Amino acid sequence: MEDKTHLVDEITGHRRMRRNRKADWTRRLVQENRLTVDDLIWPIFVIPGNGIIEPIPAMPGVNRMTVDKAVEAAKEAADLGIPALATFPNIEMELRDETGSNSLEKNNLINLASAAIKKAVPNIGVITDVALDPFTSHGHDGILRGNEIVNDETVEQVARAAVYQADAGADIIAPSEMMDGRIGAIRHALDAAGHQSVGIMSYATKFSSAFYGPYREAISTGGLLKGDKKTYYIDPANGTEAVRDAALDVEEGADMLMVKPGLPYLDICWRLKEAFGLPTFAYQVSGEYSMIKAATANGWIDGERVMLETLLAFKRAGCDGILTYFAVEVARQLAKR
Ligand code: PBG
Repeated sequence: MEDKTHLVDEITGHRRMRRNRKADWTRRLVQENRLTVDDLIWPIFVIPGNGIIEPIPAMPGVNRMTVDKAVEAAKEAADLGIPALATFPNIEMELRDETGSNSLEKNNLINLASAAIKKAVPNIGVITDVALDPFTSHGHDGILRGNEIVNDETVEQVARAAVYQADAGADIIAPSEMMDGRIGAIRHALDAAGHQSVGIMSYATKFSSAFYGPYREAISTGGLLKGDKKTYYIDPANGTEAVRDAALDVEEGADMLMVKPGLPYLDICWRLKEAFGLPTFAYQVSGEYSMIKAATANGWIDGERVMLETLLAFKRAGCDGILTYFAVEVARQLAKR
């Protein structure tokens, strides 16, 4: 199409873009993307015990909660219309070992949380991570043998843990440990156990990122981690490799894809959505959250506007939703409008 606007607008020589921006009503009328409460998944941190809510210093506004408090939080989230929670356990150090064996305990902390939340608030979705890092004494997502995170043995364990998580009530299993072949193995294990309706949201492209720092404080793995996760997470330099990795997860039966971290990887969100068309989510991770909170606390940015802008950016990049620690805060904001 050839633009003929120069014939009608001699001053600019082209179309006047500002016409559609001139008033609040025109801007609302032409707005391409919108953030709604339906786009939000709220990650929460669970601790053992009862009646405890404990702040996480590196993540202002985010708490660790015992299961009873997590149930109350789930009710609040459901009342706000938030569709789903993602739960992360901070388990006792005594329970952590080389292989993360507590992940195979039927009544471990994450499973107790799922069962309690689903019982009290059946209408909120529960998404559980099956990576082994909350359970290992070395903070890695898989089983460590010598100097190696062993792939196939980890996959087998993660698939078994996924079945226990589904038994406990998890609606969606979200494997974040980036082992090869995990999606297919989890699908088989779930189906064999009669969990055909339990979905898989693959942390399809999880990058070896420095943005996870505050999360490791939240589940107390920071001090434990020996080395780094470069042998299993994706190199931040590699976009095409990320798409190829996600393609395998799609083939193996992932129902939904996730990109993690979020904002620095919007190109990946867009590429995955374009390539596969599956429901695609971004995880706005702890470091992204903490940076916004820290700058806000210093009075350097308008935190509320930056929060909303970042979340809208995910929508523009093709995401169907966002895992964000801002979920409750933003849901309250959206409810006021
Ligand atoms: C590990 C896992 C991580 C996060 C969730 N699950 C990262 C890691 O420690 O390597 C990060 C979440 C965040 O930073 O908010 N399987």
